[in-house]
Amino acid sequence: QCPTNILSVENFQEMADYVKEKISVKPEVGIICGSGLGTLSDLVKDSIDILYEEVPHMPVSTVEGHEGKFVIGSLGGMDVICMKGRVHHYEGYHSQQLTAPIRLMSRLGVKYLVVTNAAGGVNKSFSPGDLMLIKDHINFLGLAGINPLIGPNLSTFGTGERFLQMVNCYDKEMRETALELAPKHGVSLQQGVYALIGGPSFETPAEIKFLNLIGVDAVGMSTAPEVIVARHCGIRTVAFSLITNMSVHPDSVHDESTSHSAVLALGSEVTGKFSGFITELVSSFKSK
Ligand code: 6GU
Repeated sequence: QCPTNILSVENFQEMADYVKEKISVKPEVGIICGSGLGTLSDLVKDSIDILYEEVPHMPVSTVEGHEGKFVIGSLGGMDVICMKGRVHHYEGYHSQQLTAPIRLMSRLGVKYLVVTNAAGGVNKSFSPGDLMLIKDHINFLGLAGINPLIGPNLSTFGTGERFLQMVNCYDKEMRETALELAPKHGVSLQQGVYALIGGPSFETPAEIKFLNLIGVDAVGMSTAPEVIVARHCGIRTVAFSLITNMSVHPDSVHDESTSHSAVLALGSEVTGKFSGFITELVSSFKSK
């Protein structure tokens, strides 16, 4: 028996063809709106919505508060394809399914990607409401053999590297631009290392202590697989975590601040400020 992939190159092409048929723009920028950060997609002008459930092979979210649609139009003078909502590993999807929209984007011609997520703060100097620029990640699923690139290499995508280099995977130039633009928008941008855990259960006190010890600044349940596939496609990526609660205090794991509703509430509160910032960041790709 030959090894195979969950989704084939033809499947990704079918996804892209479905979307291409419905739009008149040619998006160069992809944006993934994480939990509570969906209002960013409301700023997309002359937009067309495409529900995930319409798109062949597209995984559909099962979590409350995670909408499921592409919003395609113009933001900051760039043609963008925005994902309002994403699916996660803990929903039972294969990592090749949850990264399928990235390959769809690649086939549409996307060159830059902005990823956002909601995360728990592990760095003791962070507070809820902070935005963290992701410098690097520790992917616990990846380290344990759950990586979207496992299987026959899809060499027709971008770089097509079998053994993908992950140095500078969070693009240095894009990070520098983000750091430059943040103060103008009243965003005090933190920086740090994001850890992906499988979820859906949150961290235990012992796990939080461990994450802190190994140099993790924020912990969440998404992003790393999408970033890996984006890199495999040769898409330059920048990513941010919205710190929705602090997981450094073992007691906070049990209180309401780690609840899903807190994650969503905080998102809508601070999202206005970040929207302006992300819009200008997207504009900056014009000159890159
Ligand atoms: Cl994985 N942990 C905590 N504490 N908060 C989060 C999270 C994880 N993902 C989103 N918010």
